[in-house]
Amino acid sequence: MALPALGLDPWSLLSLFLFQLLLLLLPPTTAEGSGQEPVPRVRYYAGDGRRALSLFQQKDLRDYDILLLSNDGNTLFVGAREAILALNIQDPGVPRLHNRIPWPASDKKKMECAFKRKSNESQCFNFIRVLVSFNATHLYTCGTFAFSPACTFIELKDSKLMPILEDNITEGKGQSPFNPVHKHTAVLVDGMLYSGTMNNFLGSDPILIRTLGHPVLKTDNSLNWLQADASFVAAIPSTQFVYFFFEETASEFDFFDKLHTSRVARVCKNDVGGEKLLQKKWTTFLKAQLLCAQPGQLPFNIIRHAVLWPANSSPASHVYAVFTSQWQISGTKSSAVCAFSLTDIERVFEGKYKELNKETSHWTTYMGSETNPRPGSCSVGPSSDKALTFMKDHFLMDEQVVGTPLLVKYGVEYTKLAVETAQDLEGNSHLIMYLGTTTGSLHKAVVSNNSSAHLVEEIQLFPAPEPVRNLQLAPTQGAVFAGFSGGIQRVPRANCSVYESCVDCVLARDPHCAWDPESRTCRLLSIPVPKSWKQDIERGNPGWACAIGPMGRSNQPKSRPQIIKEVLAVPNSILELPCPHHSALASYCWSHGAATIPEASSTVYNGSLLLLLRDGAGGLYQCWATEHGFSYPVVSYWVDSQDQPLSPDPELAGIPRERVEAPLTRVGGGAALAAQRSYWPHFLTVTVLLALVLSGALIFLLASPLGALRARGKVQGCGTLPLPPGEKAPLSREQPLKLPKEHRTSASNVDADNNHLGTEVA
Ligand SMILES: *[C@@H]1O[C@H](CO)[C@@H](O)[C@H](O)[C@H]1NC(C)=O
Ligand SMILES: *[C@@H]1O[C@H](CO)[C@@H](O)[C@H](O)[C@H]1NC(C)=O
Ligand SMILES: *[C@@H]1O[C@H](CO)[C@@H](O)[C@H](O)[C@H]1NC(C)=O
Ligand SMILES: *[C@@H]1O[C@H](CO)[C@@H](O)[C@H](O)[C@H]1NC(C)=O
Ligand SMILES: *[C@@H]1O[C@H](CO)[C@@H](O)[C@H](O)[C@H]1NC(C)=O
Ligand SMILES: *[C@@H]1O[C@H](CO)[C@@H](O)[C@H](O)[C@H]1NC(C)=O
Ligand SMILES: *[C@@H]1O[C@H](CO)[C@@H](O)[C@H](O)[C@H]1NC(C)=O
Repeated sequence: MALPALGLDPWSLLSLFLFQLLLLLLPPTTAEGSGQEPVPRVRYYAGDGRRALSLFQQKDLRDYDILLLSNDGNTLFVGAREAILALNIQDPGVPRLHNRIPWPASDKKKMECAFKRKSNESQCFNFIRVLVSFNATHLYTCGTFAFSPACTFIELKDSKLMPILEDNITEGKGQSPFNPVHKHTAVLVDGMLYSGTMNNFLGSDPILIRTLGHPVLKTDNSLNWLQADASFVAAIPSTQFVYFFFEETASEFDFFDKLHTSRVARVCKNDVGGEKLLQKKWTTFLKAQLLCAQPGQLPFNIIRHAVLWPANSSPASHVYAVFTSQWQISGTKSSAVCAFSLTDIERVFEGKYKELNKETSHWTTYMGSETNPRPGSCSVGPSSDKALTFMKDHFLMDEQVVGTPLLVKYGVEYTKLAVETAQDLEGNSHLIMYLGTTTGSLHKAVVSNNSSAHLVEEIQLFPAPEPVRNLQLAPTQGAVFAGFSGGIQRVPRANCSVYESCVDCVLARDPHCAWDPESRTCRLLSIPVPKSWKQDIERGNPGWACAIGPMGRSNQPKSRPQIIKEVLAVPNSILELPCPHHSALASYCWSHGAATIPEASSTVYNGSLLLLLRDGAGGLYQCWATEHGFSYPVVSYWVDSQDQPLSPDPELAGIPRERVEAPLTRVGGGAALAAQRSYWPHFLTVTVLLALVLSGALIFLLASPLGALRARGKVQGCGTLPLPPGEKAPLSREQPLKLPKEHRTSASNVDADNNHLGTEVA
């Protein structure tokens, strides 16, 4: 029985009882992250100074939807609601407005729009939808123009936009959607605009069209090449073809009423339409299914966005695309990023066709012979009637293009992505993906060599949860620009200074950051990279990367700054020792010198150690993080009792100390309660409860086994498994936790001491 250990001091007993009640009343903290899916290692909330963003906005302007980077990379053109802007992004910080030109829908069109029962408050405007660089002196742009799409050229003079002349505005059907909520895509290739969107007011007539050149070519509606709900998200040119990425109801499966599917369609750049058949229509239109799924799971069947990388459409190029699913998994939507090799896509288009059996309405593989030239290939001439007749019914490929899932994330809907590669210290290149979500976050993902991604960070871009409308990478500026309803955020690729120790810098596994032992800072990689810098992207092993060899040690100053936070405590008071959980990938535990944490009088709540200070409970308390099998102290406290000062630990001699005020609540001795923490309401409850049940409870407490009450408050020290309650499960590669004594030795040759939070690595 634990009773003798309690002592007979009534104040101790009372405070212990209160403490146990507190433990019962604390709401459980939930463990986050489950299964295999990657979790952002660090999360930044909107306005966090560690990840400072620069917001560009104009009071009278909304819907910063379309972003275009100038060829020299110094100007960002923005298509917003009824205006187009040129921003100078050369200098770090908030983009500077170069100039802005209005392009409102005409009053006549606005009136007609309102007359057709569209909202004059939210819909009957000119939402810019297409903004492309036409030639050295002109941009080309299209907008919804109050449900009456229109296009125009904009002249540029010294990167300044010249005003739009009313006479130069042309009709833009097929280039911009009517309704701003309808999807659209457009790309300018060889002076011609390839666009995919809805071609009517109702949004029931999708079209793929090539304009700004002759002849104008479109999809043929009567042939059902596209389903009525086709929704275009990207257009990507290659050497011979232009690929379109979209989503539509699948017609080739019989099992479901309405099954969505993602598609890639292609047309030849040299298509000129048919002479007798398919006049002014595509003669090379083919489409295939895109499959993004994990083995044995429902597919992610709705494509949201796609980009090509490397952008020069070399054989090594891949299309990276974000998908969501039509189905919810445990009540939430989920997303995936898949990679499709351009070679695989081309191979599927070289394969068999599907055809519709008109009697049974079933799609089957076409087994007949093919004409030469092959239908749908770029060598089909405008007069090869045989091939064109075949094309009318054989536009769907039999095989699907199977993608490699790089990242699957539950409870998140990605909207847009931007992709680049970064070289690490060893010269290996890593794929970096910036992913915008429907709730206004940006994920930075790094794909390692074996196709599994890890998330370096999550940044909440806007105070309110709203979708990221667009992302534009500006490589020379080292930043990503994110457009949303209220403005444009500039997000620097990385802020390496947030990683304050070598351990943290290496564990971050951000290819853009490396540890510079000379300046003892985590720094943005620059070219050429100094040899001494440390990084380990693939394994993230600080034990190896931060180890100070005989060479390194001689360069280090002998006595390094280390901090222990000193807390002076009053007996029978509750101390809260915070431990910032910077990394969501780490598991955290507490150690008390070489001893175990007193079980009856402590608990871990929301990362903090709550400690009921009684006799002999003083000494060294350390919060340890274990990540990738590597343990390091996050923060170290020296808890000293006011009444019985402890003799200093000789092992800790010479380590700088910093006196801190640990939030402290005194419950014994009749003194006033001094708590203003989040659990203060619980204390009030406890006090009221106490008044009601005090006498009976004391008898109960003395008579009953304490175990039941105590179960909740147990703190598992670092020496034992499982981990403390409410803590994240350890990583799969993690080794069993070692005793603090062993930590000290294992960490002693590691350069972890720059961690300002305090460490005692020698
Ligand atoms: C980077 O992080 C450091 C340390 O937290 C902070 O002081 C600095 O303001 C941050 N800079 C940016 C641009 O976010
Ligand atoms: C929209 O129309 C209503 C009347 O139909 C009018 O009162 C209101 O001012 C209009 N709003 C705008 C923004 O034009
Ligand atoms: C760019 O295109 C516009 C519109 O067709 C044309 O007026 C202008 O002369 C072109 N500029 C150059 C440099 O080709
Ligand atoms: C714009 O209109 C003017 C006059 O109508 C015409 O001279 C000029 O060529 C047009 N510019 C473009 C780029 O179409
Ligand atoms: C990935 O592996 C290949 C060979 O297996 C190697 O050539 C390449 O450098 C590796 N890349 C990285 C980033 O490690
Ligand atoms: C390779 O991928 C597997 C999961 O598919 C992962 O467990 C392993 O750590 C990865 N290896 C490296 C070196 O990243
Ligand atoms: C947990 O701690 C963090 C800061 O460490 C605080 O912002 C948050 O509100 C706490 N949560 C609860 C439920 O107390």
